[in-house]
Amino acid sequence: MSDTQNQIVTVGVTGASGAILAQKTLALLEADARVARVHLVVTEAGQRLFAEELGITSGDAKQLPSRVLGHPAGKIDVLPNKDVGASIASGSYAVDAMVVIPCSMGTLGAIANGISDDLVARSADVMLKENRKLVLCVRDSPFNRVHLGNMLSAQQAGAVIMPVVPAFYHHPKTIDDLVTQYVCRVLGQIGLAQDKMYRWMGTPAAKKAEA
Ligand SMILES: Cc1cc2nc3c(=O)[nH]c(=O)nc-3n(C[C@H](O)[C@H](O)[C@H](O)COP(=O)(O)O)c2cc1C
Repeated sequence: MSDTQNQIVTVGVTGASGAILAQKTLALLEADARVARVHLVVTEAGQRLFAEELGITSGDAKQLPSRVLGHPAGKIDVLPNKDVGASIASGSYAVDAMVVIPCSMGTLGAIANGISDDLVARSADVMLKENRKLVLCVRDSPFNRVHLGNMLSAQQAGAVIMPVVPAFYHHPKTIDDLVTQYVCRVLGQIGLAQDKMYRWMGTPAAKKAEA
């Protein structure tokens, strides 16, 4: 693992609901001076979710980051999900951390069972074999027994399972408040703590007295 400067991060986006989470993740990484490069891989279903939920389509994959951010992207490059020979498919290429956000039950199953037949699953597999940080932002509801078993397998192999479950203790007023807090917690997991993150400091004394 390199120092906290010049971080190289892989972001996998799959076909689970929550494209807005991927959008926020990419925006925070793009703005983060500690991050040198972001490799973005989007599954076919992930592209469909960008279109369904955010109205973002991109014929030219290279344009996807700027379309997602709403302004030119300086450090995000898109790798085709079919390219299992890309840099990030090898442990010899030094990726510091990988986040799959949102992570579908299909991709969770592939990662949990070592089925590396696309670039998202292969690069996640590499993160696990190289003992590097992998965060899976799984999303579905309810979970069935297979999903839960796969989460346990992936966690036991070294992944952090971070279900898309929002917090409310920071009194969110907007969807952006919910999304930002969740994504900040995810980035905290890969050593990129964010100033925007709300930190619970205990119940204030005045409120305790009222209770
Ligand atoms: C609008 C829409 C929403 C979906 N939401 C979810 C979801 O929240 N969780 C999930 O596991 N799959 C969801 N799916 C199904 C996955 O996209 C599907 O299983 C797909 O094969 C996953 O492929 P991927 O893992 O390669 O992205 C959704 C599909 C669509 C079209």
